[in-house]
Amino acid sequence: MADQKGSFSWLQSLNISDIFVWKDHGEYGAVAAIVIGILVPILFSALFLGKKREKIRGVPVEVGGEAGYAVRNARKTELVEVPWEGAPTMAHLFQQACKKYTHNRFLGRRKLIEKEFVQSGDGSGRRYEKLHLGKYEWETYGEVFARVSNFASGLLKLGHNTDSRVAIFADTCAEWLIALQGCFRQNVTVVTIYASLGEDALIHSLNETEVSTLICDSSQLKKLDAIRSKLTSIENIIYFEDDSKQDTFSGEDASNWTIASFSEVEKLGKESPVELSMPSKNSIAVIMYTSGSTGLPKGVMITHGNIVATTAAVMPVIPNLGSHDVYLAYLPLAHVFEMAAESVMLAAGVAIGYGSPLTLTDTSSKIKEGTKGDASVLKPTLLTAVPAIIDRIRDGVLKKVGKKGGLVKKLFHFAYNRRLAAVKGSFLGAWGLEKLVWDTIVFKQIRTALGGQLRFMLCGGAPLSGDSQHFINICMGAPIGQGYGLTETFAGAAFSEWDDYSVGRVGPPLPCGYIKLVSWEEGGYLTTDKPMPRGEIVVGGFSVTAGYFKNPEKTEEVFKVDEKGMRWFYTGDIGQFHPDGCLEIIDRKKDIVKLQHGEYISLGKVEAALSSCDYVDNIMVHADPFHNYSVALVVASHQPLKKWAEQAGISYNDFPDLCNKPETVTEVMQSISKVAKAAKLNKSEIPAKIKLLPDPWTPESGLVTAALKIKREQLKNKFKEDLQKLYA
Ligand SMILES: *[C@@H]1O[C@H](CO)[C@@H](O)[C@H](O)[C@H]1NC(C)=O
Ligand SMILES: *[C@@H]1O[C@H](CO)[C@@H](O)[C@H](O)[C@H]1NC(C)=O
Ligand SMILES: *[C@@H]1O[C@H](CO)[C@@H](O)[C@H](O)[C@H]1NC(C)=O
Ligand SMILES: *[C@@H]1O[C@H](CO)[C@@H](O)[C@H](O)[C@H]1NC(C)=O
Ligand SMILES: *[C@@H]1O[C@H](CO)[C@@H](O)[C@H](O)[C@H]1NC(C)=O
Repeated sequence: MADQKGSFSWLQSLNISDIFVWKDHGEYGAVAAIVIGILVPILFSALFLGKKREKIRGVPVEVGGEAGYAVRNARKTELVEVPWEGAPTMAHLFQQACKKYTHNRFLGRRKLIEKEFVQSGDGSGRRYEKLHLGKYEWETYGEVFARVSNFASGLLKLGHNTDSRVAIFADTCAEWLIALQGCFRQNVTVVTIYASLGEDALIHSLNETEVSTLICDSSQLKKLDAIRSKLTSIENIIYFEDDSKQDTFSGEDASNWTIASFSEVEKLGKESPVELSMPSKNSIAVIMYTSGSTGLPKGVMITHGNIVATTAAVMPVIPNLGSHDVYLAYLPLAHVFEMAAESVMLAAGVAIGYGSPLTLTDTSSKIKEGTKGDASVLKPTLLTAVPAIIDRIRDGVLKKVGKKGGLVKKLFHFAYNRRLAAVKGSFLGAWGLEKLVWDTIVFKQIRTALGGQLRFMLCGGAPLSGDSQHFINICMGAPIGQGYGLTETFAGAAFSEWDDYSVGRVGPPLPCGYIKLVSWEEGGYLTTDKPMPRGEIVVGGFSVTAGYFKNPEKTEEVFKVDEKGMRWFYTGDIGQFHPDGCLEIIDRKKDIVKLQHGEYISLGKVEAALSSCDYVDNIMVHADPFHNYSVALVVASHQPLKKWAEQAGISYNDFPDLCNKPETVTEVMQSISKVAKAAKLNKSEIPAKIKLLPDPWTPESGLVTAALKIKREQLKNKFKEDLQKLYA
């Protein structure tokens, strides 16, 4: 096992062959599997027992700016700025990709066959939309390029002034990408806003950036009409047509808005082309509003140089990326992670099929029963996901297996544990063969849920738990690349490599930049710490953006330029570097509070530990510096608590009533203390008092972000009185 490279190409060849072998299996296969599964590892582990040599992925480097411990990617001595010569901007890169892959499939979408409404079974009278969607219909790179050019011309013909900005406020779809690239070709800056952000955030962002043309879904037209008087800078509205219905304005007076459908704009441009105005490296491509966890959203100014740098750096992370790949796009394009992923895909000539989170699998909530979800029709080889989605997939599979019970359940868990041991490295030698067996008889079924062809998954947005990462490795048979990157660094900071099966780390720095740890004395994280250097994570290089729009104070606070001219972004995250050059995120500066007696408590760490308690659905720990203990808001988990109440003979009217009972609070406190002790938390870290809440926190309520991270400020505000009572 000395030669890592050799051993992995060996694995890969087996990966490919398992698609062809043992198509047909039955009891015969099961018996063989168990025999092989037990014997082979013993044989092989005897043969290959030797210490794995750790692959070095990042190496220390001398850099400018504030003193710290800096690391660069081990593969590249020089920083990577562009994917290839002559592509300094996304507009150039796009044009060249379209030329190179002219006849390849590029963008695919499913036509709506039928839409129906189903009455919910709970008697609430709510109606659910169910869709029957067709096959993917494709456009080639050449065809899409023509549409982008037409749109770029049509936008100006419609009356858009190129000195003003365009905003896109819509769900992810092919036209979203076409509109984005069209604007790029005219050096028009695009403002992006999360479709799930509230009305205030929308009005604030559009007003702050003085957007004159707004591109949206047809379903949003009505919503806009209602807030029209507050959208003072808007002159043009372009909407994406909907297959099923055409929403129109209810307002009588649409006279001062020019409203056109997307295809009308394309037609305008086709009839009368307008001269191009390509951007340059430092032009602002996108002002991306991030939901943030406090206050109004901030607009991050992303240059064309930032986008191509991250694209160039991420491309090699996905092994063998190319036009044979199919990517399923369904996360919001207004989020930096998806925009970066699609940039990578198009630079490599990948086919991108669009879907949505609610139509992803055959059992997704909007898919009509008996019809197919996006993944089973598209059969993607590549997929992006955020941890919340991966956790949901995992829960779904485990529930299904649990329901089947009996032999199926036993076999699944036996196979899973065998594979888990192998992935964790206890008998690496038998990796290939045993994997083949279990994949074929156990995991193949599960894989069909995501189309069965998945070979790599990109994950980002929040830290992924080790359990979930292993689950994907084993059940989906796909390595996960875990990314760390914020909107402020256009998603490009660190990325774990596909052959790294360790958990809880985000890999080495991407080759477009450096990552530096800077000591934070107050919080007790130092670059001189043993066994690993620790400190605030600071990212420098080509992916570091130009700062916050119309907010020089905040920009100066967290962006710095060093004596060599390199830009650095202070993330506020605390990390440590492993000896192989991989980064691990361990804390968040903002979430560390100093208690009255001078002890520091890390809210995030305590929350992560306590959320494994059965009764806890969600939790926010709160620490007031004027007290020597912390408290917590706990969203109670319904099933376990009701079960306990039944067993303990507690009678109650409804769930809120149960949560208010002192006995219930005591029970949950005891359970939390037990979990805290097991996690080795200090006394002051264990919440001394808790408030049990009956209702879950959802992104719609504004209490958690779209990635399901808790929003402290909002929660503190909403539960102000409860928190005060806890400290009374
Ligand atoms: C829009 O921005 C201007 C300043 O640019 C401000 O005076 C005005 O109050 C804002 N309007 C809204 C609705 O936020
Ligand atoms: C458009 O009309 C609305 C009300 O009808 C008004 O509030 C707004 O200022 C007008 N916008 C422009 C750009 O004239
Ligand atoms: C592109 O637009 C920006 C304004 O956003 C401007 O400063 C820059 O000069 C333009 N670039 C080119 C090449 O016209
Ligand atoms: C726990 O408390 C002890 C002393 O009370 C302190 O030395 C130690 O650093 C604390 N540990 C953590 C993880 O805060
Ligand atoms: C807080 O301080 C009081 C006395 O001032 C002490 O009795 C109590 O144990 C302390 N609590 C914690 C969690 O340290």
